[in-house]
Amino acid sequence: MKPNVVVFASGRGSNFTALVQAAERGDLPVNITGLFCDQLQAPVIAKARSVGVPVAVFTPQLFPTKDAYEQAVVRFLETQGADWVVLAGYMRIVGGPLLQRYGGRIINIHPSLLPAFPGRDSIARAHEAGVERTGVTVHFVDEGVDTGPVIAQREVVIQQGWSLDTLAEKIHEVEHDLYPRVLAELVKEQAW
Ligand code: GRF
Repeated sequence: MKPNVVVFASGRGSNFTALVQAAERGDLPVNITGLFCDQLQAPVIAKARSVGVPVAVFTPQLFPTKDAYEQAVVRFLETQGADWVVLAGYMRIVGGPLLQRYGGRIINIHPSLLPAFPGRDSIARAHEAGVERTGVTVHFVDEGVDTGPVIAQREVVIQQGWSLDTLAEKIHEVEHDLYPRVLAELVKEQAW
């Protein structure tokens, strides 16, 4: 039986699409049962609808506290029978309710070689810093900002003259290849 995955995203959704395509090709043995989004206007919502993945949007501002918001998210995940929570550009720090229920089953992708350049604008900060290499990290999620145990990393060597746009494009290419592979390995390690 394939495990159920809910993808969390807040924005563009290119990693969401890469995961869906890998599952459709048969390279990623999971059911992507839903997209969870915290932003009403996020472009990822239309992407999910266009490929028939059910979408849930919860606006955190409508909940009295972060815990109340996350408790509602946990209830949603339980109705989906979620086995894994896959963050793909979800722009919030995960808190207690989600970690207590899904700890060890929540992963994230980050566009740098962590621990370098955690947080926002990592690609731009690496470009600005003039580093020779950066890359992509997939890691388990803990209560920190991009601090959880690393599962996999892939390096991108920055060529002279690369613009920020070029670097961003190379990083995203790596993300779209790496994330489905890493998730496929993780779910294969489990006896379902
Ligand atoms: C990616 O660069 C990912 O590493 C980071 O947020 C970005 C999301 O991009 N966490 P997209 O929405 O998947 O296109």
